[in-house]
Amino acid sequence: MRLKLSIGFLGIGVALLALSGPAPKAGDAALGSQPYEKFQPNEDCAQCHPGIARQYEASMMNASFTHSWDEAEYFELAVPHAEKLAKVAGIKAGCNGCHAPLAFLAGDIPPRRPAEGSRANEGVSCDVCHSITGFEGDTPFNFNYIIDPGETKQGTRPGLESPGHKIAVNPFLGKAEFCGTCHNEKDPWGLWVKATHLEWKEGPYGKAGIRCQQCHMPAAAGNSAPDVGGADHPDVRQHLFHGAHFSDMLNGAVQIGLSASEDDLAPGSRLELEAVVMNTKAGHMIPSGSAEERVVWLDVEAVDAAGKHFHLKVEPAGFEGEEMTIASASALAYQDFAEIQGLKDFKGLARDGDVPAGDRIFRLPYLDPKGRMTVAQWNTASFGPDYRLPPLHARKEHFRWKLPEDIAEGPLLIRATVWYSRVVASVARFMKLPEEEYAPVKLGASSISLDVSRS
Ligand code: HEC
Ligand code: HEC
Ligand code: HEC
Ligand code: HEC
Ligand code: HEC
Repeated sequence: MRLKLSIGFLGIGVALLALSGPAPKAGDAALGSQPYEKFQPNEDCAQCHPGIARQYEASMMNASFTHSWDEAEYFELAVPHAEKLAKVAGIKAGCNGCHAPLAFLAGDIPPRRPAEGSRANEGVSCDVCHSITGFEGDTPFNFNYIIDPGETKQGTRPGLESPGHKIAVNPFLGKAEFCGTCHNEKDPWGLWVKATHLEWKEGPYGKAGIRCQQCHMPAAAGNSAPDVGGADHPDVRQHLFHGAHFSDMLNGAVQIGLSASEDDLAPGSRLELEAVVMNTKAGHMIPSGSAEERVVWLDVEAVDAAGKHFHLKVEPAGFEGEEMTIASASALAYQDFAEIQGLKDFKGLARDGDVPAGDRIFRLPYLDPKGRMTVAQWNTASFGPDYRLPPLHARKEHFRWKLPEDIAEGPLLIRATVWYSRVVASVARFMKLPEEEYAPVKLGASSISLDVSRS
């Protein structure tokens, strides 16, 4: 009798455990904790949420594993390096915690190449985001989201009914910390090599409570599930996630105020120019996130009445490490490719790609353990000066130019342009990336007209 009772209790205990399941794990500990089958494919969601699915399919979230540069950097740089150097061994699995969460959670490491069509290809899928219940610790970073896939989808709106699934109202999805679980990254040296959420939090938008979702998932009136009983709402979250790959987001992200010391000039005279460069649209630094490989630069040129172009070089401001923020025709970098890929006689690549020498580069240089600039964020042991464009903040750049004696008389156009390239051109060519991966996009432009005459 007594024996039976305790077995009974034991049975209830086991049943309770099976019902609630073990507590979901987060971050590195979640590796291999959830089989692929636990997650519904995006096509399931698309049947009832067609509009959101169409938007999402065009976003980088959907391509976070399959997109060419991600594939190249993971398979041709990160995996070989992880297999060679114990210090960075964790990235072989870790990159996937953000880029291929299904494969990471299933313990399918390394995932198969995108061409093989495994479920890794689903990237940051609908069911990944909508199964995240919270995060572990105080700071969101390195995929420390807590994920609990199943029948229940996490959402932020109370009082909804769905024929497809249960809904848990979870304010976490409406918070910037939710995004921060993948948009902050600490590398094996303990450096914040990606800090979009932290930049936001410390900046004016974070302080004002203007969240990532408001700019990247703007609200619009509509119905997310019109054919299956969904309700109309004035503020349905648009799943656009436009960022560095969308010129609508990039164009106009930077404003330039250009002014000259004189309006009327004579050939041979001296001109002083000031360009005030402002980040007026992004809630974080420009560039943010993968700052190791983005290049943002200010190019200033003069065009005389005869159509001749003159390139102007920025005046150094005199801060420490500034040489890394002024484009050079001869500086080399990225020598760590030699160690990563086992190359012999590799001298490095042009540090600044195609950026014209003398242009100001708004960047945060990532330095490898030997102090050379790198695009391998996992191989970053220190940083150069942070000379990016902080949100709602301006940087002043100066130019001095002695007009040539033979300059044409008439109007002199001064043109300032801030360009953005997602990958340093030299690196992109070395990695054989398609040209669209690094073609310059205009962030902002401004011009003024001066007058040149001999009298
Ligand atoms: C059989 C149809 C159906 C399927 C399949 C379906 N949904 Fe839904 N879902 C709905 C309906 C209807 C609503 C209620 C929408 C409303 O009234 O605003 C809803 C609501 C939601 C909400 C709640 C939104 C909020 O603000 O709280 C989320 C999140 C959601 N669905 C995600 C998903 C995901 C992710 C999938 C795929 C894994 C999915 N749905 C599959 C029909 C479906
Ligand atoms: C599970 C991880 C994860 C979560 C959560 C997440 N992201 Fe991302 N996000 C990524 C990855 C990975 C990429 C990189 C895609 C690529 O390979 O370019 C990305 C890319 C982006 C981009 C850049 C697109 C581009 O065009 O360059 C934006 C914008 C973005 N995410 C916004 C958000 C916002 C806003 C949230 C929160 C609502 C969020 N993300 C939550 C993983 C995540
Ligand atoms: C005030 C609007 C605004 C807010 C708030 C905002 N962003 Fe952005 N974001 C932008 C704009 C504009 C761009 C395009 C310019 C650029 O690439 O920096 C951008 C670009 C990005 C990119 C691509 C960056 C790059 O250079 O590769 C990512 C990733 C991103 N945002 C994620 C986030 C996350 C995560 C948050 C919240 C922590 C957030 N954003 C908050 C407006 C915003
Ligand atoms: C990167 C994470 C992410 C991905 C991927 C994602 N969502 Fe969402 N989704 C969110 C967040 C965050 C919200 C709520 C934002 C808020 O309330 O501020 C949301 C809101 C929704 C809503 C409620 C819309 C509304 O406002 O009424 C539905 C429905 C939904 N998602 C379905 C989907 C479906 C279907 C997919 C895939 C096609 C998908 N989501 C992919 C993060 C994501
Ligand atoms: C903590 C989450 C996280 C981890 C870990 C992570 N990434 Fe990313 N990765 C992102 C996000 C988010 C973006 C988009 C940032 C942006 O556009 O600013 C990104 C962008 C990229 C890009 C640029 C994509 C583009 O289209 O320009 C590449 C390439 C990349 N990651 C490769 C890797 C590799 C390789 C690893 C492992 C060494 C890795 N990532 C680890 C979150 C992560």
